[in-house]
Amino acid sequence: MDIKIKIEEISAKLLKYQYHYYVLADPIVSDNEYDRLFDQLLDIEKKYPELTQKNSPTKRVGSDLDNTFAEMEHSVSVLSLDKEYTGEGITKWVDKISAGSDMKAEYVVEEKLDGASIVLYYKKGILETALTRGDGVRGNVVTENVRTIGQIPLVLPEEIDIAVRGEIFIKKSEFERFNKKFENKYSNPRNLAAGSLRNLRSSIVAGVPLNMFAYEGYYKNGKGHVEILSDLKALNFPVNKNLALFSGDKNFLDQMKKELPGITTGSVDKIFDYIENHTKERDKLDYDIDGLVIKVNGIALREELGETSHHPRWAIAYKFDSPAAETILEDIAIQVGRNGRVSPVAILAPVQIAGSIVARATLHNQEYIDILELGIGDRVSISKRGDIIPAVERVIEKDEKDPSIYKIRSDCPFCGTEFVKDGAHHFCKNTECPERLRRSIVFFVAKGQMDIDTLGEKTIEFLLEKGFIKSIPDIYSFDQNKLLGEEGFKEKKIDNIKNSIEESKGNDFATVFTALGFEGIGKVAVSDLIKNGFDSFDKIREAAETGDIELFSDIPGFGDITARFLIEHFSDKDKLKLIDDLADAGLRMRAEERKNPEEEQVFAGDIWVITGSFENFNPRSIAAEEIEKRGGKVTNTVTSKTTHLLAGPGAGSKLDKAEKLKIKIINEKTFIKLLKP
Ligand code: IVH
Repeated sequence: MDIKIKIEEISAKLLKYQYHYYVLADPIVSDNEYDRLFDQLLDIEKKYPELTQKNSPTKRVGSDLDNTFAEMEHSVSVLSLDKEYTGEGITKWVDKISAGSDMKAEYVVEEKLDGASIVLYYKKGILETALTRGDGVRGNVVTENVRTIGQIPLVLPEEIDIAVRGEIFIKKSEFERFNKKFENKYSNPRNLAAGSLRNLRSSIVAGVPLNMFAYEGYYKNGKGHVEILSDLKALNFPVNKNLALFSGDKNFLDQMKKELPGITTGSVDKIFDYIENHTKERDKLDYDIDGLVIKVNGIALREELGETSHHPRWAIAYKFDSPAAETILEDIAIQVGRNGRVSPVAILAPVQIAGSIVARATLHNQEYIDILELGIGDRVSISKRGDIIPAVERVIEKDEKDPSIYKIRSDCPFCGTEFVKDGAHHFCKNTECPERLRRSIVFFVAKGQMDIDTLGEKTIEFLLEKGFIKSIPDIYSFDQNKLLGEEGFKEKKIDNIKNSIEESKGNDFATVFTALGFEGIGKVAVSDLIKNGFDSFDKIREAAETGDIELFSDIPGFGDITARFLIEHFSDKDKLKLIDDLADAGLRMRAEERKNPEEEQVFAGDIWVITGSFENFNPRSIAAEEIEKRGGKVTNTVTSKTTHLLAGPGAGSKLDKAEKLKIKIINEKTFIKLLKP
């Protein structure tokens, strides 16, 4: 058989199977049969690369080649939506349109998906280009990534030229599963969806559970919006079935019900009721929506109403969340952290939100800026995440004079070293960067760490400037008397400084360790280390020297990333010297034994694991405390070193393992007896 025809045949089958699997969620062949065909096509494509089609179903798995996100002009106008926050606002909007036109207005209400906007361009039924919204005129070409999304048809059943707007999103349930695998590093489904679209490797994007709903179609037609949606469905696009149509024409409503099963219908005066009801249903959905969109259905009326330079007059968003605040992004400052990580910070025209004035907000990294498509001079919307942390949520209006997207500079503004990109962030890798040093000293003395409250940020800056200190250990060795005579330093103040520095030497090991501010090693990691026997710098150093990551990664709650950080830090000569110098200064280098002198140390040397539930020890940490008070240690995993398993009802695999290892198993009653003197 002609190879070309064979390729076409297999491709057509696979595309059909993909459509049933991804869009209809109703597979029509077994996984085996699908894989067999898929592999067959891959084999042929490998042999005849020149015959491989751009839209081959094998492209769903993406490639490892770096994408470049070229920009391209949109050929349809991709406006954003005007918005209202109240039901009255929406009712007024509807009334105004209905009253102002000779045509009978019909309305559609759709869910406003909270994801990433996409425009798909098809020529003769073949996906040519996928563009992000960009600044509304030009978008980024993200075609290769979009091809990996199973729900998006690569080839349409009809050879038509069409542009389709839609939203790429991630289901809440799938986000949770996915995020767990990555130690919850993604903040929400929207950012993961938008970030994935711009991921440089489409093979990675292929692994992200992206979905899509198509909500606008642009092609030659004289129809209404719901008919277009029905056409989009027939063209194999996924269309959201939570949709409502309001019209005075009952026949029309009945006809549309047949074409789009699941659609809610009603007369125009029922729009508000629907909005109210559907808003209540919002939390039951397995995807995030941030509002509803009310659209005029008739295309002729849409054309009559027209659009402003930003919004169509024929649609409006009903937004759930009360307005945060709008302001202008005046500048972006570049901060370099103690570990060299670069953080761009938004400098905002001060604006009041929920009772306080916000003038700055972190922008995290270049990726975050790219996703927002943010530039200096833009009008932006600011919120307070969790009611506390100010965040730039989105661009409301690009700066007309300069609509460019901000790019982080290539070198460190404090030391001139070229930034290095590592993952999503830029880093200043110069360990002697004066800003990194300043930040690490400020962190070390801060409240929550060594808590040397007489050394505020200003004083530290002064000491650095004058050359009194050049490193953290210098805090403990510089001659404080030299401060006498410097402006603002009277004897009393110097005494206070001396005293608080001296006092800080009494801080425990965990505090000293945390105050070093080693990347990835915060309070929780330090406490886990100590609990698991790594209770001195010496012990950690010894373990790190073996390079055996499992020594640390086995610690419950740790994982490979923290373990790798530890090994890296404790193999770094500068950091080891820092620790040695602090030891010389008299700081605590090991944890005090956790003993309670009032209790007899009956569990000394024992290693306990606790599993199941208990009547008298709820939470289980109460039992752990009792064991530790008596000199015992509590760990999370049963190993050959475990001496006792305290087991209550509901104990699972830990009990099985302990039985196998012949470890003493203690129930609650016996345990209470053991606690009694
Ligand atoms: S219609 C010209 N319908 O909301 C009208 N937009 O500010 C085009 N969105 O960037 C928009 N769900 O990404 C429309 N059902 C929906 C939508 C929707 C989400 C997003 C879209 C757009 C933004 C509007």
